[in-house]
Amino acid sequence: MKRFLLIAACLTLCVAAWGQDAPKHQKLMQSAGGACGSLGKNLKAGNGAAAAADARTLHDVFDQVHDFWAAKNSEDGVKFATQARDGFGKIAEQASAGKLDEASATFKETTANCGGCHSAHREKAADGSFKIK
Ligand code: HEC
Repeated sequence: MKRFLLIAACLTLCVAAWGQDAPKHQKLMQSAGGACGSLGKNLKAGNGAAAAADARTLHDVFDQVHDFWAAKNSEDGVKFATQARDGFGKIAEQASAGKLDEASATFKETTANCGGCHSAHREKAADGSFKIK
């Protein structure tokens, strides 16, 4: 009986932990969407310091996205997230050095990973929300 209770408690915990994973990923994506829009605008407007701050935010977001896909053992998920993280890190350096043309070019390359991962791993549910696949 005791052993049964222990197993039941463990299962409940595991399910709860797994259930929290997806909302956390969605929050990360919502931050990515906001910061990415802002970064694009700041690069166009020539605001180097603000663009660098956005890029640093995105670097940290994709560092966490990377850990999420690493925990899922998803090889291509990890690849897209790593390329995004490293790309935003490079943009932060370029933008804070005032190299906005280079930063804009890196931005274009880096955001290709958004679409790449979305077509591989994002699924639209019937209610219009997005799911992980
Ligand atoms: C490693 C994979 C991966 C990468 C890279 C990635 N995404 Fe996502 N994204 C997803 C998945 C999976 C979903 C759907 C599930 C979710 O929202 O968690 C999603 C959903 C979203 C959403 C919808 C969130 C919502 O409200 O449901 C936005 C916005 C978004 N991504 C923006 C971006 C942007 C911008 C980038 C690039 C800078 C990016 N994503 C890169 C996997 C990725």
